[in-house]
Amino acid sequence: MTPLNVLAVVSEIFPLIKTGGLADVAGALPIALAAEGAAVRSVVPGYPAVLGALDGGVTVARLDDLFGGEARVVAAKAAGLDLFVIDAPHLFARDADPYRGPDGREWPDNAFRFAALSRVAVLLAQGLIAEYRPDVVHAHDWQAGLVPAYLYYAGAIDPPTVMTVHNLAFQGYFPADLLSRLGLPAAAYSIDGVEYYGEIGYLKAGLHFADRITTVSPTYAAEIRTPSGGMGMDGLLRARADVLSGILNGIDTSVWDPAHDKHLAAPFDADRLPERVANKVALQTLFGIDRDPAKPLFCVISRLAAQKGIDLLLEALPTLLRGGAQLVVLGSGDALLEAGLRSSAAANPGSVGVRLGYDEGLAHLMQGGSDALLMPSRFEPCGLTQLCAMRYGTLPIVAHVGGLCDTVIDANEMAMAAGVGTGFHFSPVAREMLQAAILRALAVWRRSDLWLRLQRNAMRTEVGWRGPAARYAALYRELVPHRVD
Ligand code: ADP
Ligand code: GLC
Repeated sequence: MTPLNVLAVVSEIFPLIKTGGLADVAGALPIALAAEGAAVRSVVPGYPAVLGALDGGVTVARLDDLFGGEARVVAAKAAGLDLFVIDAPHLFARDADPYRGPDGREWPDNAFRFAALSRVAVLLAQGLIAEYRPDVVHAHDWQAGLVPAYLYYAGAIDPPTVMTVHNLAFQGYFPADLLSRLGLPAAAYSIDGVEYYGEIGYLKAGLHFADRITTVSPTYAAEIRTPSGGMGMDGLLRARADVLSGILNGIDTSVWDPAHDKHLAAPFDADRLPERVANKVALQTLFGIDRDPAKPLFCVISRLAAQKGIDLLLEALPTLLRGGAQLVVLGSGDALLEAGLRSSAAANPGSVGVRLGYDEGLAHLMQGGSDALLMPSRFEPCGLTQLCAMRYGTLPIVAHVGGLCDTVIDANEMAMAAGVGTGFHFSPVAREMLQAAILRALAVWRRSDLWLRLQRNAMRTEVGWRGPAARYAALYRELVPHRVD
């Protein structure tokens, strides 16, 4: 069977550049899809971190003017991924975050930076390089949202496109007067085009023109069709419900493998759970909290954003502390949340530890040494940290929203009797309900036989990419039926 050629279009890719779960998905899905007979090449911006990580590389095309400057397309491999990297120094040769400058504000030319990503993808899709023609183009999030629109206005019906929404909160709006500079015709500025409430909406464009829309969990696929979950896009998504589906994310189980994890003080597996205690003590030491394995240890590993409900956690903290538990937090983001966490740590030196920043290795140790992971998200398209937690025997305490509903089985009495619980849910997303879930988890924690059973259930859960990759492959094949051989 000849492999299906898929061109993925994405603004970040693990391990080269990452701000969130999007990068994890972009980095792991191509490798899992190879086993499903799909050959994925990913077109990505040539940020310094990406260009610096390439294993060789060949210039396969030169563009005289890509939104204001010269550019090269470099075909290269890195970390087992096949890439087309857009080397366009006027757009991407900037250190720091892919989306924001050092002052924390979005780069002022983001409209052109990500139009360039889509433009190059569409050129590749239409034969920029003689020897490469994708069967399907897979665009991720607003940064790639113009792909289906550019193809449409170029009059192309091929290749078909898939638009995946990783987070509907980020939609990519830009001033309407940029239309012609973006290479879009005047007719595109309409409700049946790229226009969205008086601006140009990149994600809106993608959702309108893509052949298929996916998001990263079945529950989020349903939530975004409702006024409360649709963030203004619910009307469009209801209209396109026949092509919208949810495919759950996985995690890379070789990166997240507690038995062979070099970041752990003591690697372990489901049959060696007592060994986790060495990781717990290492964590308590690192965070400077009381070194006491007998205290239940909760953790948070998260962007500090309103989405993640960290404010609720601060409100529920006294309940957690009264229950004799400790909390360690790793994250960065919102200044108010950072300040709130810092002062909680200062007020509770033996029980609360906070690290503000991004630290991949520490995230692994926290998963390997904590007892429970808190995710009080207001909405969560899928969430990956709870999957990592389950694999490491850290029980997730999650808001009953989006992908958290679809991945964690609440250990209620019936689930316990049936032997299937893997964590704790709460709903609605409110302080009192979070407090109740924390108390419920603490009660189970005190019954170490029950807790151990839940840990084993969680660790046995299939959280890898095999199932999801097969679903993406089936979706691609639906779009190119003539390729089914
Ligand atoms: P989102 O993409 O909304 O931020 P996900 O749960 O899908 O949430 O993915 C977050 C990813 O980023 C996970 O791999 C998680 O371990 C990681 N992560 C988040 N914050 C940090 C941090 N401060 N340090 C290290 N890893 C982090
Ligand atoms: C987004 C979502 C998160 C999801 C990730 C990868 O950042 O917030 O829930 O897991 O994308 O799809």
